[in-house]
Amino acid sequence: MTEEIVVIPGDGIGREVVPAAVSVLEAVGDFEFVEADAGDAVEAETGEALPAETYELAASADATLFGAAGETAADVILPLRTAVDSFVNVRPAKAYPGVDALRPETDLVFLRENTEGVYAGHEDRLSEDLSTLTRVVTTSASERLAEFACDYVEDRAYDGFSVAHKANVMRETDGRFRDAVVSVADDRGVETDEVLMDAFATRVCLDPTQFDVVVCPNLAGDVLSDLAAGLVGGLGLLPSANIGPDRALFEPVHGTAPDIAGEGVANPSATIVSAAMLLEYLGYDDEGRAVRDAVESVLADGPRTPDLGGDASTEDVTHAVLERLD
Ligand code: NAI
Ligand code: MG
Repeated sequence: MTEEIVVIPGDGIGREVVPAAVSVLEAVGDFEFVEADAGDAVEAETGEALPAETYELAASADATLFGAAGETAADVILPLRTAVDSFVNVRPAKAYPGVDALRPETDLVFLRENTEGVYAGHEDRLSEDLSTLTRVVTTSASERLAEFACDYVEDRAYDGFSVAHKANVMRETDGRFRDAVVSVADDRGVETDEVLMDAFATRVCLDPTQFDVVVCPNLAGDVLSDLAAGLVGGLGLLPSANIGPDRALFEPVHGTAPDIAGEGVANPSATIVSAAMLLEYLGYDDEGRAVRDAVESVLADGPRTPDLGGDASTEDVTHAVLERLD
């Protein structure tokens, strides 16, 4: 059976890096691609940043590959994550040989809670002077994330995982998060260590090798994974996966890069590695590995795009990856 992959390029460099990743997927598998619109351009045309048919496609496909949306990003990506009922955002931050990185020894994976915390959307303006935000933490969502984290470290033979939190201050909410995550890990016989999220920020800069897999509440995972992006040499390299119980959505961490959009020089690596995560999610482990190895080899030897100090185009880099796959 041919698997269907929904492809949403979006705006800006999304329209350049997503086709690059699709050509890599075409080279390693027999997939049917269904392209759908989202973002600023379709909003300008139709008044809707996320057309209902795009939402429906993402909500029924096994896997979706998304590029980026511009000013409408929040109106696109948040509902798309809901469409796949994504409870965890997997964000690897790995430095590659040959790429100038602040901390070349960095090799981390963030497993970020993707549905609640301070991003649950309960913000209120109570008066001229006062706004409030309700932070939502449930035992059920924390346990679901912890079960995923246990499977993740077992499948990949990690020793265990770290839990980043601030339960010393947010005793009720982060206390609940920490207790639920640690209790699931204990039941599963998976080792955990705890780290306060502010201390994590310092420790990861000084020595990222202290950590492997880091389980975080939503906001902490967002901020700390971007910090790690700074350690490994930039946004053009960071992939991500939004995983739900039945389907998943894959996307580079970066946005539409308006400063270089249309020039054909965007680094396609983040999106191609997101496609490798998609392959692995669908069970194509060998193909996923081959794609990762090809990207790694091109990053080491070149050609490289300008963000990495080279002068190659998106097409040159994609072509080099495809050549290594042959
Ligand atoms: P950005 O990630 O688009 O760009 C930040 C900087 O990194 C720019 O200098 C850009 O040229 C560079 N960069 C990013 N990806 C690159 C790549 N693949 N190759 C080479 N250089 C790359 O973030 P920014 O500038 O904050 O946002 C621009 C637009 O993107 C905004 O409209 C924002 O709303 C949207 N955005 C969308 C996201 C999404 O759809 N998931 C995520 C982040 C931003
Ligand atoms: Mg972010």
